[in-house]
Amino acid sequence: MKAVVWHGVGDIRLDDVPDPTIQDPTDAIVEITASAICGTDLHFVRGTMSGMVEGTILGHEAVGIVRETGPGVRNLRSGDRVVIPSTIGCGYCSYCRAGYFAQCDNANPNGAAAGTCFFGGPQTTGPVDGLQADFARVPFANVGPVWLPDEVSDDAAILLSDIYPTAWFGCRLADVGQGDTVLVLGAGPVGQFAVTSAFQQGAGRVLIIDGVASRLDQARARGAEAIDFNTEDPVAVVKELTGGIGVDRVVEAVGVDAQRPKSGPAAEAAQQQAAAFEQERSQVAPDQNPHGGTYVAGDAPSQALQWAVEMVAKAGSIGVIGVYPPQLTSFPTGAAMNKNLSVKMGNCNHRRYLPRLLDLVRTGAIDPSTVLTQVEDMPTVLDAYETFDRRESGWTKAVIAPS
Ligand SMILES: NC(=O)c1ccc[n+]([C@@H]2O[C@H](COP(=O)([O-])OP(=O)(O)OC[C@H]3O[C@@H](n4cnc5c(N)ncnc54)[C@H](O)[C@@H]3O)[C@@H](O)[C@H]2O)c1
Ligand SMILES: [Zn+2]
Ligand SMILES: [Zn+2]
Repeated sequence: MKAVVWHGVGDIRLDDVPDPTIQDPTDAIVEITASAICGTDLHFVRGTMSGMVEGTILGHEAVGIVRETGPGVRNLRSGDRVVIPSTIGCGYCSYCRAGYFAQCDNANPNGAAAGTCFFGGPQTTGPVDGLQADFARVPFANVGPVWLPDEVSDDAAILLSDIYPTAWFGCRLADVGQGDTVLVLGAGPVGQFAVTSAFQQGAGRVLIIDGVASRLDQARARGAEAIDFNTEDPVAVVKELTGGIGVDRVVEAVGVDAQRPKSGPAAEAAQQQAAAFEQERSQVAPDQNPHGGTYVAGDAPSQALQWAVEMVAKAGSIGVIGVYPPQLTSFPTGAAMNKNLSVKMGNCNHRRYLPRLLDLVRTGAIDPSTVLTQVEDMPTVLDAYETFDRRESGWTKAVIAPS
């Protein structure tokens, strides 16, 4: 079968690999009918999330049809259409039972202390082969995959695999409530859903910051007040829009590949921190392999975290869903302490939120496919990776059809 395989930083390939087989009683083999590329995959290719094992199949977002089940899978049958959550949980440990599927004690082959197990990630997360392939082995298939009704299309369901639950979770981490003014940092696919999730959870206003005009336009169409950090000073604008107070809640949907302003009034202040940012970048990404303008590590790893703390009101709260590796040790602790902030972060417990978000999609309360901008075929998946990496205008989220 065909699969997207990680060979090294800046080096991914569409390879022919053996079909997966059932290994454990609770495994299922799923034929993938749609997969997607995520900002998380880009961290692995840019080298800002290290520890990938050569030969790992990438991808943690997919929809498919169950083709085979182990004897421990009693809830699914061959032919069932399912959405696969990105993170894997056993369903029976105390963490899974409390809804912390991303901190399952049993799913990660590296042991309970290793934490989150997910498809297509670094050694510390399994590794478990990912979902950008024709077929996938799904561990704990009796718990993870969620059955899909016919009326929910693949294009809608694929966004339930990771990014809509993650955005919803980010708003829960930030404690978004009735009437709140919420700031979303990052207008990628996750940021787009964070805008929608914030309104669904009661936000009065949603502000969004990015440096890519087409993504800001997309967020504006979802009702957000857009701020471009390459043309305005985002800290000053947020203060001005909130009567000098700052926002109540921040959802940080940028992560380690954060960029600093390159033009406009904020560029100079960011430039003054260039040396410190460069130090952070070499800490998180000692191994980099950019080609021209592609797969370039972000040049300001802690920029979004700094802005989150600066832009939130006193006693406000921040939810960090942008991904950071253990090597990043800089966070503006003192500033956050002195404002009495609450800060929560983590990997999404997808399975906890997926059924209720599927219900919202099914009833038509939201059409997640409004975030999709492209449908690409498997043979062109590497081009899709590069275009998404460069954040080209009009390219926010691509779904990959099988080969
Ligand atoms: N916690 C989780 O479980 C989880 C799940 C999925 C994705 N993620 C993470 O969420 C983040 C976003 O994912 P995505 O798919 O939307 O990725 P993406 O790369 O498409 O989006 C990131 C966006 O941030 C913007 N950006 C860069 N620097 C910025 C800055 N200083 N301020 C504001 N915006 C800035 C970029 O222009 C881009 O539009 C990634 O870090 C991804 O790994 C986390
Ligand atoms: Zn993802
Ligand atoms: Zn568990």
